[in-house]
Amino acid sequence: MVESLINKFKKLFGDEGEILKFFAPGRINLIGEHIDYNGGFVFPCALTIGTYGIVRKRKDKKIRCYSLNFPDKGIIEADIIDLKYKEEHNWVNYVKAVIWAFNEKGYKIEYGFDFVCFGTIPNGSGLSSSASLEVLISKILMDLNDINIDMIEVALISQFAENKFIGVNCGIMDQFAIAMAKKDNAIFLNTNSLEYRYAPINLKDMKIVISNTNKKRELSDSKYNERRKECENSLIELKKINKNIETLADLTPKEFEEIKYTIKNETWQKRVKHVVYENDRTKKAYKYLQENNIEKFGELLNLSHKSLKEDYEVTGIELDTLVEISCNQEGVLGSRMTGAGFGGCTLSIVKEEYVEKFIENVGKAYREKIGYDADFYVAEIGDAPKQI
Ligand code: GLA
Repeated sequence: MVESLINKFKKLFGDEGEILKFFAPGRINLIGEHIDYNGGFVFPCALTIGTYGIVRKRKDKKIRCYSLNFPDKGIIEADIIDLKYKEEHNWVNYVKAVIWAFNEKGYKIEYGFDFVCFGTIPNGSGLSSSASLEVLISKILMDLNDINIDMIEVALISQFAENKFIGVNCGIMDQFAIAMAKKDNAIFLNTNSLEYRYAPINLKDMKIVISNTNKKRELSDSKYNERRKECENSLIELKKINKNIETLADLTPKEFEEIKYTIKNETWQKRVKHVVYENDRTKKAYKYLQENNIEKFGELLNLSHKSLKEDYEVTGIELDTLVEISCNQEGVLGSRMTGAGFGGCTLSIVKEEYVEKFIENVGKAYREKIGYDADFYVAEIGDAPKQI
């Protein structure tokens, strides 16, 4: 794979000079969904699928970029002294976004580069192909320009690029999970303080199976921003009776039940209920995983999905179908959607000996009900972004 990428690079941009190779992973979130912008706990881990980048520094201000995922776009050329979002720059806007963010944060990027990339994360699958590209570019900028920044700062700069340049108001989870990835570990992250702990994933004879709905993501960004707004509005309501509440995730389930009446809008009340209980579930999930209690961990995944379906309303027929069929299979301990929702992927904890049957049965039943195929991957927990 890397060899063929290098060959492509040489064909497009010539073989002189120092050509470097990089990789950044994708991520799944085990549990703790839609709470990273509410100050809650999340529990993601990186994958071994991700984004490969081949790069060579230039002596001028140009960037020339080519993606094997979008060959029809050809080589897209841009200038690092003109860093504005341009429709025609398509996916390269993400590259520009990160260069822009580095500049904004005081790390001046003086020289451009030639770049060929290939992502093994299916686009639009909710496994963070964009955060993977952003962190990859951050790592490349650091190494090409001798910039030394710690990886938490890298996550923040990458998120800043996505928020302010691309215009997607995402939380910190994806970029943090990727920048701070550690092989065979999930990251238990407090999104309010950015304190974190690594948790070794030891699932005994279980596997994490990722099922992709293959639903085209439509409106997901606007719905995402709508949920954020509903949470922000609810927080304003709650602060009226208790100004010490800083984030929705400050509330325990008990505290929420006592003051939920202050949120008059029923829909908003359901959103907050999800946030508060999901935060509680995530803390318990971390504990159960440490105790190797995979059964209990699996139950929490099921409850998380139910809450995302009924209270947060970010699932949809494709995700719900996948989860429902998955839960009915032999050897399954739990299943839920992962990521922003509205499409994308689910994850299921499946006993190893049943994985093959699981994929066959779920695939068949999904096709019958939805009319097209789902895809399946057995997850492997990946490592931090690096030069390879
Ligand atoms: C997307 C966002 C994350 C997070 C999840 C939902 O992946 O990028 O910040 O909010 O959705 O948990």
